[in-house]
Amino acid sequence: MNTPLQHPLHIACIMDGNGRWARRRGLPRTEGHTAGEEALAEVVRTAARLKTIGWLTVFGFSTENWVRPRTEVRHILSLHRKLFARTEEMNSNNAQTRWIGRPFSEKGARTPVYVQKAIKKAIADTSHNSGMAVTVAFDYGSRAELLRASQLAMKQGAVTAQSIQNNLYDPTLPAVDVLVRTSGETRISNFMLWQIKGCAVYFTERTWPDFNAHELQEAVTVLTGRSH
Ligand code: FPP
Repeated sequence: MNTPLQHPLHIACIMDGNGRWARRRGLPRTEGHTAGEEALAEVVRTAARLKTIGWLTVFGFSTENWVRPRTEVRHILSLHRKLFARTEEMNSNNAQTRWIGRPFSEKGARTPVYVQKAIKKAIADTSHNSGMAVTVAFDYGSRAELLRASQLAMKQGAVTAQSIQNNLYDPTLPAVDVLVRTSGETRISNFMLWQIKGCAVYFTERTWPDFNAHELQEAVTVLTGRSH
């Protein structure tokens, strides 16, 4: 039976498999990431058009990803600059850019200043949009988020589910409805452990650069039992 949609959906994506996509084509891994960034832009366009998705959160770079080879890290960072500069597209999709991750000034945080600037500018230049919110998790790890939230809650006097929620990087992010992970992996990888409580999961063999509009709709179907 079809379940009617009750609210704008929150879809969270672990965009995995860029390296494998490149290897299968005899390309350097960096080309896989470039294709992955383009796939994300396409997914944002589709999601904005669907109107059923109010929130799209993607794992752009984790607290664990810094150990990758320097040239690869540098390339992924430059792709984030590109992604955060897609302001015109975001505005034409009436979509806001948001970010979650270790606060820039926090001990151990690693976001370089040029990425910080790109993030701040993207947020400011799209904050007037009233449609979908696209949140990029960068220098993000769920354990770090939850530790910080618990410590802040304790300082404020009470550790409760509500006080932890209030101290998450973005307390306004609603619960995730569907978690997508591409490339045949079925791990969660320290992503939004608090927010995914009770969500549906959609695992696909397809690598992230091949994830497309059709498959995004499939993922939504997991929840509602119908095609859009
Ligand atoms: C996994 O591919 C993906 C990442 C390391 C993070 C996501 C990055 C992108 C989609 C590229 C740029 C995107 C943005 C958001 C600017 P992998 O290298 O782990 O692939 P593999 O498991 O096949 O090696």
